[in-house]
Amino acid sequence: MKIAIMGFGVVGSGVAEVLAQNSISIAKKANEKIELVSILDIRKFDDSRFSHLLTKSMYDVINSGAQIIVETIGGTTHAYQYTKMAFEKGIHVVTSNKELVSKKGPELLALAKEHKVNYLFEASVGGGIPIIRPLEQCLAANEIYMIAGILNGTTNYILTKMREENLDFTTALYQAQQIGYAEADPTDDIEGYDTKRKIAILSSIAYGKFVDADMIPVKGIADIDAYDMSYSKALGTKIKLVGQSRLLDGKISAVVEPLMINAGEYLSTVDDVFNAILVKGDAIGEAMFYGRGAGKLPTASAVIADVVYITKNKDVIGKYDWSETLEHISESGSGRYFIRIVGEDHETAEKLSGGTVILGIKENEFGLVTNQISEENLKQLEGQLDVIKAIRYMQT
Ligand code: HSE
Repeated sequence: MKIAIMGFGVVGSGVAEVLAQNSISIAKKANEKIELVSILDIRKFDDSRFSHLLTKSMYDVINSGAQIIVETIGGTTHAYQYTKMAFEKGIHVVTSNKELVSKKGPELLALAKEHKVNYLFEASVGGGIPIIRPLEQCLAANEIYMIAGILNGTTNYILTKMREENLDFTTALYQAQQIGYAEADPTDDIEGYDTKRKIAILSSIAYGKFVDADMIPVKGIADIDAYDMSYSKALGTKIKLVGQSRLLDGKISAVVEPLMINAGEYLSTVDDVFNAILVKGDAIGEAMFYGRGAGKLPTASAVIADVVYITKNKDVIGKYDWSETLEHISESGSGRYFIRIVGEDHETAEKLSGGTVILGIKENEFGLVTNQISEENLKQLEGQLDVIKAIRYMQT
């Protein structure tokens, strides 16, 4: 099987390295040798052992004899165009590009099917964690009705460092970028857009219809500060950015937001760059998938898994069908909340909310933990009290 790589960045170069390093065992699993024949990138990599394969022309790649192209360019401009060119030439595409899959998935999957090839994207969610194929195949017997995941390695790394090493947000982000976890523009990680795309892809696979990421409300972690961390330590909770979706009467309710997670909850022990995905289905009950959610080699491992799948399953084409879109219903904001309030009037706050005050983190403010309240109750409290911020508790 001949393959090519488009985009020789962190993940693309990882794919070339892992393929070269594990060529014998990969060939055994794929039942044939996987040969890298071309690499597309506009940059120069003179010192790379793969420099002889590099080209700046997509036409070289398309005409290289490759039967599978790995798209690790990212974004939705060149990656989109070149993916379509590959399908039109009858070439399978494997990608880690969650932005492209979540935005153009229905169109690209239909085009792949029309040209009797596959568009696979195991590496787009959860880095090295096998999750797309397990959701689609291994849990096929289930009616899946809930998915909740820590899906972004960068933000999980930042929140972990802020909590454990008392780092400020900027230093922790800088470290995440140095290790190669963060996107080139970390806005997508921090604002929760990356998580939104990933929960949309997982939900599309699990519920069998396209889930439009743009319909999912998102709150990122940019305003989580050292005081929130101190409150969360005092409460024995952790703050994590979580993407969740539920299937309710054939419609989807999904949301991305930082949540307070109690010790003992499934997702509370998932720290650093690790990701975890909790899935609930009617037959299995609960299953959790855990592993490295970002980084060069884990992501390359997921890309190569798709390459091996296509190599071994040449008769399977047009694997996913997202021609129908799942209807969204807006997520109810009900739940238990942690709320930071200006002032010292604990009594009024407790009386109005029916909650319990947490003391001693910062002058002229206090924290409050409510009982289960509705979104309307929360809005009322925000009108009656000088609320700095409210963070919901995870409910599974
Ligand atoms: N920036 C992403 C993350 C990379 O941190 O999870 C993997 O998708």
